[in-house]
Amino acid sequence: MQTNFLTSRLRDVAEMIHKSDYTVAITGAGISAESGIPPFRGENGLWSKYDPIVLELNYFYQNPVEAWEVIREIFYDFFGKAKPNAAHYSLTHLQESGFLQEIVTQNIDNLHHASGGSNIIEFHGSSVKLICTKCGEIYDKDKVNLDELPPRCDKDQAVLKPDFIFFGEGIPQEAYQKSIEAFNKAKLVIIIGTTGEVAPASSLPYIAKKNGAKIIEINTESTSFTNSITDIFLKGKAGDVLPEIEKLITGKL
Ligand code: APR
Repeated sequence: MQTNFLTSRLRDVAEMIHKSDYTVAITGAGISAESGIPPFRGENGLWSKYDPIVLELNYFYQNPVEAWEVIREIFYDFFGKAKPNAAHYSLTHLQESGFLQEIVTQNIDNLHHASGGSNIIEFHGSSVKLICTKCGEIYDKDKVNLDELPPRCDKDQAVLKPDFIFFGEGIPQEAYQKSIEAFNKAKLVIIIGTTGEVAPASSLPYIAKKNGAKIIEINTESTSFTNSITDIFLKGKAGDVLPEIEKLITGKL
């Protein structure tokens, strides 16, 4: 893309964020790519290396050791070491300076929290907590020994499951309600690093669009949103584009 063209688009976006009194960001795996976390789909995606069956509830209950071996490798050994990148920090800075009201993330990697962000709705739950499949007791991942699999509840010895949703599970009630409210209030939506292939998360920006909100999208590739509801598409890495927008908004350019 030509630099001048991109710069003028970035200026337009910075101005839109500046003027909006309620901006909501929705993030997907792409925002964590520059933290070393691979996306789910696509050629180098997690699901081309691992069998997603490990995140199917029936398989998990019937084969907790086999499922946990893969879950531990992906979501704890590997994701657990990831650090927030420039994109996470830019969103946090925009929140701190009052330009971004809420972040709805499909990611379970905790990186928005790790960057100091607030008002974060974890639509698919989080890997930092584990939940007892019998009594519902919640455990902090750092307090659970994953050397012996499957991890079990201290109270009833039932298997613990990561507190993020598996295939076929419903969205956590509170996260769902809060997200609907956020997108109903939004005057501006920033969609970052998501293919928009997984419902119901993919339907959220449409709620805002229907209410007249403007839609900005940041992605290295076009998606199902790009030619349907996106008003301004910024093609590029979230970790490059978001800091540029932040600089423009805070007047440093
Ligand atoms: N910056 C911005 N976008 C990027 C970057 C980057 N550096 N790298 C990759 N992308 C984009 C890809 O082009 C793609 O559109 O991020 C998107 C990642 O898409 P998916 O892998 O489908 O991830 P996501 O949309 O978050 O998946 C949704 O699916 O498997 C479930 O529950 C899981 O939350 C996940 C949901």
